[in-house]
Amino acid sequence: MSEYLLEMQGISKVFPGVQALSKVDFQLRAGEIHALLGENGAGKSTLIKVLGGIYRPEEGEIRINGQQVSITDVNSARANGISIIHQELVLVPHMTVAENIFLGQEPTTRFGVNHGKMARDAQRMLDRFELGIEAESRVVDLSIAQQQMVEIVKAISFNCRILVMDEPTSSISDREVAALFEIMRNLAARGVGIIYISHKMSELYEVCDRVTVLRDGLFIGTREVVPGNRDELISMMVGRELSKYYVRDYCESQEVVLRCEKLDDGNRKHKRVHEVSFEVRRGEIVGFAGLVGAGRSEAMQCLFGITPGSTGDVYIEGKKVRIRNAVDAMGYGIAMVPENRKLQALYHVQNVRFNSTIEVLEKFINKLRVDHQLEASITQESIDKMRTKTPSQEQVISNLSGGNQQKVVIGRWLATTPKVLIMDEPTRGVDVGAKAEIYEIMNNLTKQGVSIIMISSELPEIINMSDRVYVMCEGRITGCIPHQELSQERIMHLATLEMTGGQAV
Ligand SMILES: Nc1ncnc2c1ncn2[C@@H]1O[C@H](COP(=O)(O)OP(=O)(O)OP(=O)(O)O)[C@@H](O)[C@H]1O
Ligand SMILES: [Mg+2]
Repeated sequence: MSEYLLEMQGISKVFPGVQALSKVDFQLRAGEIHALLGENGAGKSTLIKVLGGIYRPEEGEIRINGQQVSITDVNSARANGISIIHQELVLVPHMTVAENIFLGQEPTTRFGVNHGKMARDAQRMLDRFELGIEAESRVVDLSIAQQQMVEIVKAISFNCRILVMDEPTSSISDREVAALFEIMRNLAARGVGIIYISHKMSELYEVCDRVTVLRDGLFIGTREVVPGNRDELISMMVGRELSKYYVRDYCESQEVVLRCEKLDDGNRKHKRVHEVSFEVRRGEIVGFAGLVGAGRSEAMQCLFGITPGSTGDVYIEGKKVRIRNAVDAMGYGIAMVPENRKLQALYHVQNVRFNSTIEVLEKFINKLRVDHQLEASITQESIDKMRTKTPSQEQVISNLSGGNQQKVVIGRWLATTPKVLIMDEPTRGVDVGAKAEIYEIMNNLTKQGVSIIMISSELPEIINMSDRVYVMCEGRITGCIPHQELSQERIMHLATLEMTGGQAV
């Protein structure tokens, strides 16, 4: 009997222009939670797609309990007890939750699919997580976080020996993350081997036993997860020391660039924004903290003119303006990097160059003349700045790794040189090296006089980067904290403080 549940040995995979994996080794024990760590584009998703039968490697062997297996497609992966939650959600939007969970293995009677049983069983699985999701609802009607939870329920509902999770917590809230970790620990205790991919280092220390690091498609090493080796892991990952992580020169200016009064999303069933007022000074980074669902993104959408029926007053450099849509907002020098970049900002079939320059066309298109050289150099600047990993500007964006797609979108907005830049979860899905890069770019922008509104659920980033932080709870601003007084405790206190009519209750 082999010491390992799973061994992947000498795995190589090439895409046009990219050696995604070269002779990678990976070993998983039964009952362990094993993190796979690496920068955006390092090859993590590719490795698990090889395991899942989605890609055929050019070379390499896979053994399960010491026996060589041939994984040729998704079904043979499943037959070998492998279950994968992919980074990109792959649910079928117009089918119900129950149909998605049982896709390809529906319970049947003599007369065909047993819909009643399927719905009941699916509901039982969902209820174990206390998710409040109906098995009969259609996937399109769920939030992204709920869809992600359905993927998770689906993956763990079947008897699997090897469970792979590719960034499962990128858009679910803390409470659901806690439930997920609990389930992972239970599965591991029953002997399931779990491969866990995440860019959140703190999660690694919370649930993982060992970690394997990849860099540029190469196997770098496998380590125990022990307190104190964080810096070692980071330098294995990025191939250099990250000396300064957060860079921030605090803002001195008192000049108010943007003032919002009583932003409100109007009368609606699920009201998220209640009379939100705040101001932003020139060169400031203003953080917006709060729990998932506190209404931060929704408040910014009211400001940006994309919420029908919203009310409130907006002043830019002291002058009252009317913002009826995103074009108006951009005309006043406001730009927004949305939270759900995949859905709201990517042109999937277009290449990196198109996706990098779509907001600054006027810089290189004059009437009917297109300055292709300038277009290419704007794109290159953005690739260099963000350290985006792409074989060329012509690469179709959906062929980039998940994190590199994010970098392209962020780079696109940085190229617009706005007065006020709204960044919604700017470092989600982005590796540590690129995070440091983004912080530095943000700091440089503020030194040039750009003001930044940063919505973030990562408290360390909020605390280290913001001049001031507004905290929201249930659609209202519950407080504002200057950077000298910022702490995790103060933010969490305000984030859970319910107010009615401006009074704490
Ligand atoms: N279908 C594809 N066609 C062409 N190139 C691809 C394809 N899939 C991945 N690549 C390339 O292979 C490399 C590895 O990508 P992979 O998705 O495995 O990275 P990753 O480690 O999962 O990164 P991230 O943290 O951003 O998700 C990248 O350079 C990527 O651009
Ligand atoms: Mg990936």
